[in-house]
Amino acid sequence: MSSNGASHGRGWDVLRSLLFALPPETAHNVAIAALKQLPRPGLRGFLRDRFRVNDPALMITIGWLTFPNPVGLAAGFDKNAEAVEGLEALGFGFLEAGTLTPKPQPGNPRPRLFRFPDEKALVNRLGFNNVGIEAVARRFARGVRLDVPLGFNIGKFKETPLEEAAGDYLQCLERLYDWAEFFVVNVSSPNTPGLRDLQTPEDLEPLLQALKDKNDELARAADRVRQPLLFVKISPDEEYAEDTVEIAVRAGFAGIVATNTTRSREGLKGAAPKDGGLSGRPLKDRSTEIVRRLYKAAAGRLHIIGVGGVFTAQDAYEKILAGASLVEVYTGFIYGGLSTARDINLGLLKLLKSDGFSSIREAVGKNA
Ligand SMILES: Cc1cc2nc3c(=O)[nH]c(=O)nc-3n(C[C@H](O)[C@H](O)[C@H](O)COP(=O)(O)O)c2cc1C
Repeated sequence: MSSNGASHGRGWDVLRSLLFALPPETAHNVAIAALKQLPRPGLRGFLRDRFRVNDPALMITIGWLTFPNPVGLAAGFDKNAEAVEGLEALGFGFLEAGTLTPKPQPGNPRPRLFRFPDEKALVNRLGFNNVGIEAVARRFARGVRLDVPLGFNIGKFKETPLEEAAGDYLQCLERLYDWAEFFVVNVSSPNTPGLRDLQTPEDLEPLLQALKDKNDELARAADRVRQPLLFVKISPDEEYAEDTVEIAVRAGFAGIVATNTTRSREGLKGAAPKDGGLSGRPLKDRSTEIVRRLYKAAAGRLHIIGVGGVFTAQDAYEKILAGASLVEVYTGFIYGGLSTARDINLGLLKLLKSDGFSSIREAVGKNA
């Protein structure tokens, strides 16, 4: 295993130097294009054997849904759900595609993605660039097979007034329903004007209730017993954590994804763009604290997905001990490369063992 690890490491170093020599968004597009080639069965199996860590201690069950390991890919990496088969082969325990909006939109003018390698951070102001739900639904209707849970992160079209935002989310839920094991309601991107206002309790409650009702209605119509789980994704910059817990419980949501990127620039040394969201290492402790608050307030009624600054097994473990049942990575994957999920999963097994836990489930919330 260690010789394998070293060769993946060297390979990734070369690949990363090449990708990091390109402007960040170009590098991202190259990576997605390469990952899109991976569905070829031989290649996919080869990668799976190398990157997937199979151990029952890593399994987590939420409702009817079983996650083979707790390390997922966060929203925004595969906005159009076009590379999900390749990403699955890299050993992630689940994938969150999107954010998708009812109609295609180009996002903000470039440049809109910035690297801060010294601080292991990114700033992005992409603004929900995506192909829209119709293109994704058409591709999935032709057949996409995955053996880890897939969720769609859904959002509002930029031009839709806030008062009509619920209609956008409902449309996304309905169109993508057949292929979703879970949905994440994104009310926390800093790059769509006004979006975060939907987090205020008066606005959030009717939105989540409407989505829950639609989810029930669609399940009845399709005779689907295992209806998609619903999560809401929150920002680290507002103070609604405890209110959000009560609203999500009342609406029958499965949990909360915490957190999206921050508007703060704390932890960045150089000049940084004023607009956009900061992710990566500077966000880590802030998002872990929010996970802890949510876990305490939820008292077992919801599951928390912890995201923000996870690079290593230790980072993931901190979030699990604070109360996260699952974690997600985005910036850590950019800097850590192809073996990110495998490295974190192998490290988690060691950490569980050294603390005397027999599973992730047992460790959740032990330092809340
Ligand atoms: C370039 C980029 C694009 C992102 N796009 C989305 C998005 O479309 N929807 C969303 O909910 N979060 C998006 N995020 C936020 C991530 O899903 C995640 O919540 C955040 O980056 C913190 O995790 P990290 O520190 O591991 O990156 C994006 C993040 C980055 C860096």
